[in-house]
Amino acid sequence: MKYQFNIKRTLLLLIAFSFLQGASAQDASIKYRNGMVVCATPDAAKVGLDILKKGGNAVDAAVAVQFALAVTHPEAGNIGGGGFMVYRSAKGESNTLDFREKAPAAASPNMYLDSAGNVIPDMSILTHQASGVPGSVDGMVEAHRKYGKLKWADLVQPAIDLARDGFKITRLLAGSLNSHQSQFEKLNPGKTYFLKIGGWKEGDLLIQEDLAKTLELIRDKGRDGFYTGKIADELVEEMKNGNGIISKTDLANYHSVWRKAITGKYKGYKIITMPPPSSGGIALLQLLHSVENYPLHRWGYNQDSTVQLIVEAERRVYADRSKYLGDPDFYKVPVDSLLNPAYIDLRMKSFSWNAATLSSSIQPGSFVGYESDQTTHYSIVDHDGNSVAITTTLNGSFGSKIVVKGAGFLLNNEMDDFSAKPGVPNMFGLIGGKANSIQPGKRMLSSMTPTIIEKDGKLFMVVGTPGGSTIITSVFQTILNVIEFNQDMQQAVDSKRFHHQWLPDNVNVERGALIETVIDKLKQKGYKIIIGGPSGRVDAILITKDGYYQGGADPRGDDTKLGY
Ligand code: DON
Repeated sequence: MKYQFNIKRTLLLLIAFSFLQGASAQDASIKYRNGMVVCATPDAAKVGLDILKKGGNAVDAAVAVQFALAVTHPEAGNIGGGGFMVYRSAKGESNTLDFREKAPAAASPNMYLDSAGNVIPDMSILTHQASGVPGSVDGMVEAHRKYGKLKWADLVQPAIDLARDGFKITRLLAGSLNSHQSQFEKLNPGKTYFLKIGGWKEGDLLIQEDLAKTLELIRDKGRDGFYTGKIADELVEEMKNGNGIISKTDLANYHSVWRKAITGKYKGYKIITMPPPSSGGIALLQLLHSVENYPLHRWGYNQDSTVQLIVEAERRVYADRSKYLGDPDFYKVPVDSLLNPAYIDLRMKSFSWNAATLSSSIQPGSFVGYESDQTTHYSIVDHDGNSVAITTTLNGSFGSKIVVKGAGFLLNNEMDDFSAKPGVPNMFGLIGGKANSIQPGKRMLSSMTPTIIEKDGKLFMVVGTPGGSTIITSVFQTILNVIEFNQDMQQAVDSKRFHHQWLPDNVNVERGALIETVIDKLKQKGYKIIIGGPSGRVDAILITKDGYYQGGADPRGDDTKLGY
């Protein structure tokens, strides 16, 4: 009897214990209120968390994460690319930093066209001419200069260690390195970077000695370590060997720009997001306003009316993007008109519940005035409540796939984000015109949408994602998942998404996002539904009512949330 009782008790204890364990694994993030990092790799997340624990603020951690991602997430983490940061201090001041790449001085509007005026395939994607002047290193230096607390060298050092000692690659990274082997070989004759006879497998150590040395120069000399001296020499030499056009003057002249955040309201929430040269912020605010007056909450997550409304809003917003969005230093973007509530309401008036609007019948408004691992987003909140949302990119996976000889870093192929010719789609199927034409020194239009949300004057959410043209719609839907559909941060990130971008006139749907009856109803109304693989890698943080930091790390990648 006594024996039996003990077994029962042990079983009960075991059940209780495993329940608690399960609960704590699931809700682990809810308990954190001192700091949190959510980013694309476990190693980089650990680097960021260590910095926070050492007393670094959110910007310090962001700098360390950016460099650690350049080592551990070579598909997208970078020093040879660019990005955007949205910052909000614990006191509520906001700012944004544009460290987007720029077209080199020798770039010209028709540089990717042949003599017959046709776009030369892959020239803006897989060549030395595909690269814009990198902005990431200057961006990190600027962000640190303005807001950093810890010593610069201490923020770069963890990345140096990861590059020199190596880190164990994940199954996903092994797969993506393997699938690019022939391109690496072709585009980097004589270089052995990223190549492995017999292929990469999970757990292999990736050591990047050249990159470690480059990072040491950045550690010791800051901006000058990258934009002048040895690295600049090597980058320009690499350009010369491959008919590239980035010059030493381009490098010396590169500077990131602080820009005032654009802000808007959705119900009781304040949205703080990225202004042009990203289209992301404006498009996000347009989308939110387009759906604000409809009962999404009552309809529910991914029900037919919800999907139809969102698709029709996306169709109209992406049409505007194609015409009006570009680098504000070169083109007068009609921000106020695009965000005018009356204008957005009018656009939505042409939408009928009975049938899909044809994209061919939608033009950009008039008034005065797919699988994604190629970009990466990270969200950080520190002990005091300062927050950072950074999206950074090489554009394509591993950028142009070209490694700078001797310096060991990948170059971006961001020039493809320009409109090479009016109406001709880029690699994301996006079209553009004059606003986003190529000009020397101009920044190419982006969709990156790092965003911070406030509720009642307090920090509420930090969010962003990669995914090319789908970035905007993924951020939009993640926000709705929390605000309208009461999902917690992890659920909102996990939830399947769908996407429409005006042209082509398709609704791209992640497998499992919509139930059959919803798909049937939408098809009957004329929507062209295309089912596909995972889309985006949203990494986000929600502040709960009790002030805890709740992370959402995207299960579509190796994304990791760590807090304390
Ligand atoms: O800035 C942009 O919009 C693109 N270069 C982003 C590319 C991207 O997200 C690739 N990842 N899927």
